[in-house]
Amino acid sequence: MAVPLFATSLDRCKPRLNEKLAEVVAGGRFILGPEVEAFEAELAGYLGVAHCVGVGNGTDALAIALRALGVGPGDEVVCPSYTFYATVEAALDIGAKPVFCDIDPETFCVTAEAVRAVMGPRTRAIIAVHLFGNVAPVDELRALGVPVLEDAAQALGARLYGIPAGALGDAATFSFFPSKNLPGLGDGGAVVTDDDEVAKLARRLRSHGSDDKRTFVEVGYNSRLDELQAAALRVLLPELDGWNAARRAAAEAYERAGLGEHLALPRPGPGAEHVYHLYVARHERADELAAALGRRGIGARGYYRVPIHRQPATLHLAPSGDRALAQTELAARTGLALPMGPELGADAVDEVVEAVAACASGSI
Ligand SMILES: Cc1ncc(COP(=O)(O)O)c(C=O)c1O
Repeated sequence: MAVPLFATSLDRCKPRLNEKLAEVVAGGRFILGPEVEAFEAELAGYLGVAHCVGVGNGTDALAIALRALGVGPGDEVVCPSYTFYATVEAALDIGAKPVFCDIDPETFCVTAEAVRAVMGPRTRAIIAVHLFGNVAPVDELRALGVPVLEDAAQALGARLYGIPAGALGDAATFSFFPSKNLPGLGDGGAVVTDDDEVAKLARRLRSHGSDDKRTFVEVGYNSRLDELQAAALRVLLPELDGWNAARRAAAEAYERAGLGEHLALPRPGPGAEHVYHLYVARHERADELAAALGRRGIGARGYYRVPIHRQPATLHLAPSGDRALAQTELAARTGLALPMGPELGADAVDEVVEAVAACASGSI
């Protein structure tokens, strides 16, 4: 039995999606209309925040949120190197300087201690990435005295001590890229915040730096969530909690089936309700194991094998000193994503665990 890495499907939702999209097409309004407005209200309500601003994608959401928080050229932004490239790209895009901190290799998220170790007088913000659906300790990060932006692209529906990821920091960003826990049918993103001024600036920045389409007070972006995407997301948002519960059930099933005898399993951070955007375990010979699993039809792969401080475009940001990002290097070398998704059934879980047991016990 083959088991894909992403065990997801929109099949059950397709009739409702088709109906809703046909309605939008018939209505003829495609940019910043009633669907975007309704989705923004619904997502803000789901998270319990005052404002949601729909934008073109999760990368623009980060750049817009950083600027709305007052981060500008020359400011330092502390963030992990073990993340998707967009986290750092957005900071560079607005002229800020990313300063990398290390992570906890068990949660794959930054810690307050690691952030504090690299903070300095020019630190203007922290980007807390909720990697793989886990939640970074934003409560502790806020005590460090600079604005915290949550990059919650991978963690919609996750919680920290009962509070939703996205409602923990000064602002947060989401991506609705089709593989995300709340998938769009293309690109989409959002900035959320409780701060009226940050929301106003984000709204202005997404529309060319204008509040009224006639007066341009900033150099902004053309980055709006469109009506078709918002309409699709409105159909899918009510499914999110059920999908995330199914992801958590699959993670529990992996554990019950003994996966932990062969690999170090992903661990929710203290107080975190993980949503397993990806199920990333760790193994000393992760790539060999991934190849052996692939030969048996099991989807498995490493994520962020080359962390950002070693990517060609961003090598100049690498911290000096060999061991400065030791835990980042460990996670990058040993992380191994295994099949996960709301559709991962009991048979598939057993198949994966059996295959891992067979591959990991021998010489691979
Ligand atoms: C952690 C993280 N940040 C930012 C992004 C960027 O989102 P998008 O692809 O919508 O631009 C992604 C998604 O790919 C992500 O995983």
